[in-house]
Amino acid sequence: MSKNKPIADRMHHINPFYVMDILAQAKKLEASGHDVIHLEVGEPDFATPEAVKLAAKQAIDEDKTYYTAATGLPELRAKIAQYYKSRLDAEVAAENIVITPGASGALQLALSVVVNPGQNVLMADPGYPCNRHFVRLLEGKAKTINVGPETAYQLTAALIDKHWDNKTTAVLIASPSNPTGTLIDFEEMSKIIEVVKKHQGVLLVDEIYQGLVYEQKDFTAASMSRDIFVINSFSKFFSMTGWRLGWMIVPDNYIPGVDKLAQNLFLAASSISQYAACSAFEQGSLTLLDAQRDQLQLRRDFLIKGLVAMGFEIPVIPGGAFYIYANVSRFTNDSFGFSQQLLERAHVAITPGLDFGSHEPHLHVRFAYTQNIQSLQQALDRIGDFLLTL
Ligand SMILES: Cc1ncc(COP(=O)(O)O)c(C=O)c1O
Repeated sequence: MSKNKPIADRMHHINPFYVMDILAQAKKLEASGHDVIHLEVGEPDFATPEAVKLAAKQAIDEDKTYYTAATGLPELRAKIAQYYKSRLDAEVAAENIVITPGASGALQLALSVVVNPGQNVLMADPGYPCNRHFVRLLEGKAKTINVGPETAYQLTAALIDKHWDNKTTAVLIASPSNPTGTLIDFEEMSKIIEVVKKHQGVLLVDEIYQGLVYEQKDFTAASMSRDIFVINSFSKFFSMTGWRLGWMIVPDNYIPGVDKLAQNLFLAASSISQYAACSAFEQGSLTLLDAQRDQLQLRRDFLIKGLVAMGFEIPVIPGGAFYIYANVSRFTNDSFGFSQQLLERAHVAITPGLDFGSHEPHLHVRFAYTQNIQSLQQALDRIGDFLLTL
C-alpha cells in the first residue's frame, strides 16, 4: 500500500482512546500469565437477560433477518414508549422514537441533522470523547466548557448562557455522565431547557445510563419538553453493549430528516437485536436488571470507601452510571503514567483522564466498578500496595 495516498485533514483531529493502550498492555500481561483486574472498561460485567437471548435465537430460527424500517421495528418503538410511561411517567409517542445502532448511531444522526459546518456545540469537559469527534466529522466545533466539583462536573444553565455565542447551535449533556457518573437534577434540567430555548438552539440529552441511578428518583428530560432530543441505548442498563442497539426520542420537526439520514447511513439497526430487545421490557428481565442496579450501588459504595481511605479525592459522590472519577493529585501529576504503572506493577487497569478532555486530565483517573465486590477488594489491596511503592 502506498504511503502517499491522501488522508482527510479531519483525521488529524480524531484521537484514539488512550485506554486502548492500557487495554493492549493488559492483554499482553494476561497472555504472559498475569491476572489483571479490569476497572477500565465501560461496560457491565452482567450477562444479557436470558429472555433477550432466547428471543434472538427465535428471531434467527424464524428468519427475522431482513432489514427493518430505518426508524426501527414498530413493536419495539411501541414497547419503548410504554416503558417511558410505566417506569418514568413520561408520555412519549412511538412515532417520535427512532431505533439506532447504539447511542452512537443516535448521536451521529441527531448531530447531523442539527449542526452546520463552522457552528459549535457546547459540551462539558471532562465528557464522553466521541462527541467531540462526531461534531468534528460534520465540520463543526465542539466548544468544551471546563467543569469541576462545584457543578458536579456538569454543565448548568448559567454556564450554557455564559458560553453561548453566535456560532452556537446546540448543547449536548449527559446525565448520568461518563466519566464522572454525576447527575443533573430535575430543577437544573428545566433551567437548561429554558436557556437553550431562549437562545433558539437545540438540546440533546444523552440518557444512556438511565436506569442506573442510585439515591435520586430517576427521570427523563423527555417528560419536560417535546422539543429536545433524548438519546438512550440498550448497552448499559440492559447489559447489551455488543448488540449495538439504541434509540432516540426525536422532536416532530426533525423526524423526516432523521428518517432519511438513517436510511442512508445505516439502512436499519440489526433486525435480530431489535426482535430480541422486545423481550428486554418483560417484567422478569426488568426485575433482574433492577437487582443488578442495586448490586452496582453496593459496589460503588464499597469502592468509594476504599479509595477515599487511601487518599483518592472523590469530591462528588457519583449518583449513577458505574464510574468513579477520582482526583489523584495526592499521588501524581501524570495520571497516564500512574495508570500505566498501576497496571504494570499491580495489574489493575483503570482509565487515565486524558481520554475525557483537556481540563486537568493529568490529575484524574476513572474507575469503572464493573467487577464483583471480591475483585474490587482485591483491586483495592493491590492499589494500596502500589501506593506504598510511590
Ligand atoms: C455517555 C455515552 N454516550 C454514548 C455511548 C455509546 O454507547 P452505545 O453506542 O454502546 O450505545 C457511551 C458508551 O460508553 C457513553 O458513555
